[in-house]
Amino acid sequence: MTDSSPVAIVTGGARRIGAETVRHLHQRGMNVLIHYRASSEDAVTLAETLNHVRPGSAHTIGIDLGDPNVGDLVRDQALEAFSRIDLLVNNASSFYPTPVHETTHAQFEDLMISNLQGPFVVSKACAPILSQYRGAIINLVDIHAMVPLKDHVPYVSAKAGLIMQTKAMAKDLAPEVRVNGVAPGSILWPESEINDTEKHQAMLAKIPLARQGEPSDIAKAVAFLGLDAPYVTGQILAVDGGRLLNM
Ligand SMILES: NC(=O)c1ccc[n+]([C@@H]2O[C@H](COP(=O)([O-])OP(=O)(O)OC[C@H]3O[C@@H](n4cnc5c(N)ncnc54)[C@H](OP(=O)(O)O)[C@@H]3O)[C@@H](O)[C@H]2O)c1
Repeated sequence: MTDSSPVAIVTGGARRIGAETVRHLHQRGMNVLIHYRASSEDAVTLAETLNHVRPGSAHTIGIDLGDPNVGDLVRDQALEAFSRIDLLVNNASSFYPTPVHETTHAQFEDLMISNLQGPFVVSKACAPILSQYRGAIINLVDIHAMVPLKDHVPYVSAKAGLIMQTKAMAKDLAPEVRVNGVAPGSILWPESEINDTEKHQAMLAKIPLARQGEPSDIAKAVAFLGLDAPYVTGQILAVDGGRLLNM
């Protein structure tokens, strides 16, 4: 019998927030295509775990978002594995400090590709199939797309562009495809700042809900907008413990 479960693609889905989103959508009954770039071991282990729960429910694809064929290849892999696409989660992202006078062309390009161009290219390729299944796109943005983060001009510019991309695509792809964004606040410390407890304390003091968020807070918001909000499109949902109120 053919498996007609709905299908989600999660970019950067091997680790951290992406992996939690994959697990959550899978728990909600979706088949999942886990996209990764370098984290092949994590991606394969996650897929194996999920396939243990429901055989054939998880596949992987490894490709850089800068590859000119990334959109078509990701879409075709999802169709080959599952024959349909219902939800695309553009989660993959590069993030690191780039003080203005030290930013290289390569860094600017890398941050733009993963945070702005990649989501466009993959969304464009998947849109006709999403349209067929009345599906949805969720873009992971950042509260710092609304209020700048010091020393991160290319990153916050790309994420601000991704907010407009979300709204513009919502308009262009309606009524068949809904497009929304989730803007995390502080969820997981960047890996380069994991031991900077002073910075962590300063950040926590500015969050009204007095704690860091958890990857599951983001995964649930993605599932809400992607699966449970049929009359919502073109919106950005901040999941930040109220942090924006203190910015
Ligand atoms: N963590 C937070 O507190 C926070 C706060 C605000 C916004 N966000 C947003 O939420 C999302 C998830 O956050 P996160 O911290 O879990 O992300 P992350 O760990 O920084 O990155 C997720 C994945 O993106 C992939 N990636 C980066 N550049 C890529 C490229 N050029 N091509 C393909 N894949 C690429 C990497 O995959 P590989 O490992 O396979 O290379 C990486 O594992 C991101 O969009 C982020 O901007 C997070």
